[in-house]
Amino acid sequence: MKPWETLKTAHVPGVGELTLVRRGDEFVLRVRGQTLMSSRMHGSEEALAKAGCAELASRGTGRVLVGGLGFGYTVRAVLDAVGPGVQVTVAELLPTVVAWNRGPHLSPLAGAPLEDKRVSVVEADVSRVMAHNPQTFDTILLDVDNGPTALTHPDNQGLYGLPGLSNAARALRSGGTLGVWSAGPAPGFERRLEKCGFTVEVLHPHAHGTKGPRHVLFIARLGKGQR
Ligand SMILES: C[S@@+](CC[C@H](N)C(=O)[O-])C[C@H]1O[C@@H](n2cnc3c(N)ncnc32)[C@H](O)[C@@H]1O
Repeated sequence: MKPWETLKTAHVPGVGELTLVRRGDEFVLRVRGQTLMSSRMHGSEEALAKAGCAELASRGTGRVLVGGLGFGYTVRAVLDAVGPGVQVTVAELLPTVVAWNRGPHLSPLAGAPLEDKRVSVVEADVSRVMAHNPQTFDTILLDVDNGPTALTHPDNQGLYGLPGLSNAARALRSGGTLGVWSAGPAPGFERRLEKCGFTVEVLHPHAHGTKGPRHVLFIARLGKGQR
């Protein structure tokens, strides 16, 4: 088997070492040596976009917040699902990840979604973007860790508790949808979403294609007239 080749390395204060590695045509983003994203499997990242944007797809206008960028598969799937009148904000904590996505290795993976005119990138913590934009988004998609447990940064733990989920609910418009990606089951998370006013559907898409391991998607909807 071919060895992994390190393409890029960055030391991010508060996060640690970030590396982009390649083996053949597979790219992997690692944080402190742990895999955060791989180009080998991205079916469930795309399924998150489809499930979270199902209503917007038929409406044609609206606003979507995607946190974070990774390799851009979720952003690409949002763009492919919604019409030309939908604006997509991408909140990415690590400017290095944005820079690598604009470069020659990562840009082609998901068809250069950052070049789409509907997309604007904010280099910031998605929780801050939500806090500063009340009643703004029709859909918020969170795929920032390996699920409702902080991996990238310890502060991310705050996203998944009651205050963090209430913050997400406040950033949504009436009837809005919050989608959260998870590598596996997250005991108690569904209940916390319900406590914050969401009605929750749990999906189990394949990690890639139609076989193999499954991931977990929490698709949480606010009622009309509720936020
Ligand atoms: C698993 S990857 C996302 C994969 C992405 N869904 C895709 O399709 O390629 C997680 C991303 O979230 C970013 N991230 C982590 N914590 C964040 C936060 N609090 N706010 C915004 N982005 C964050 C990471 O730097 C990384 O780019």
